[in-house]
Amino acid sequence: MNTTEPIITIENLRVEFTQERQKAFALRGIDIAFYKDEIHGLVGESGSGKTVTAMSIMGLLPKPAATILSGSIRYEGKELLSLSEDALRTYRGSKIAMVFQEPAKYLNPAFTVGEQIREMVMLHKGLNKHQAEMRARELLGLVGLGKDGRALGAYPHELSSGMKQRAMIAIAISCDPDFLIADEPTTSLDVTLQLQILKLLKILKKMKRMGMLFISHDLSVIREIADRVSVIYAGKIVESASVARLFEHQMHPYTRLLLLSIPDARHRGKKLATIAGQVLDATNDPQGCVFAPRCPLAKELCYRESPKLIAHEQGHTSACHFAEEAWDL
Ligand SMILES: Nc1ncnc2c1ncn2[C@@H]1O[C@H](COP(=O)(O)OP(=O)(O)O)[C@@H](O)[C@H]1O
Ligand code: SF4
Ligand SMILES: [Mg+2]
Repeated sequence: MNTTEPIITIENLRVEFTQERQKAFALRGIDIAFYKDEIHGLVGESGSGKTVTAMSIMGLLPKPAATILSGSIRYEGKELLSLSEDALRTYRGSKIAMVFQEPAKYLNPAFTVGEQIREMVMLHKGLNKHQAEMRARELLGLVGLGKDGRALGAYPHELSSGMKQRAMIAIAISCDPDFLIADEPTTSLDVTLQLQILKLLKILKKMKRMGMLFISHDLSVIREIADRVSVIYAGKIVESASVARLFEHQMHPYTRLLLLSIPDARHRGKKLATIAGQVLDATNDPQGCVFAPRCPLAKELCYRESPKLIAHEQGHTSACHFAEEAWDL
């Protein structure tokens, strides 16, 4: 377990969306702590609240659709949720940066990669033109785009998808953030590129001693890259542990079933488990456990009372009334 102070602490964060008078409960009270030098994986099915978590930290939730109902997000002890838009902007990029699933959407098509990096470092780091040029070359070298200098003067559309993601990473780390959020950065890439980007992020984390939130719907990708993992289901963190421990012993039925459903050499020949039923609709606001309608262990108590996130040994937490029984699934 990590004994130092976290860089970012999220407590009881509840976020709701209102669309055509319908309410969607995107985050139903989540708690997570992120540490320096640690890659924290956040895994969950589509619609479970991963991107909303990332956007909440960045202060980029769409307004007025999204409302933060309660909670706290602290960066080195400072409450981010009460900062003005101007104050938040100074955090974004220089302290906390983000890499998105589709870099093409976030790279500016009208400027070359070099220009986009130069602008970032001139704005946030106060570098002059010459220093910014040097920095852009150095960063592109770092992400593996430095060899022929072509990326520096290239417009985003002139780059392949793997190169675009590298360029996006170069921009994200250009101001030496303490914390990097990577939201499904490899999902749209083929397997070879995916592995290259994971390797690059791991190297950068080590070199820069950043904390990192790595988001994926794929547990096997999380296993590849993360030190710690939190499992999110229908806007709730249901389990969190070090990667080694979580793959060794699951204490929430959802995690257990998720793990049994990924192909693994050790389970070859065994029938893969599938999770029956549908993910809880975000407009539903059940009194009890969000996983109850799909849970093979659900009992009357589960429909009546929402389980709290309980700490077990070695920093392992889970939110299940019958955590010990999950293992027998
Ligand atoms: N722009 C939006 N408008 C309305 N509802 C939204 C919006 N973005 C997210 N949501 C709601 O928040 C939930 C979580 O979304 P998201 O965090 O994007 O999921 P994911 O885990 O796939 O990243 C969705 O199921 C949806 O109900
Ligand atoms: S609290 Fe009950 S319904 Fe929820 S995961 Fe645990 S056993 Fe299943
Ligand atoms: Mg998402």
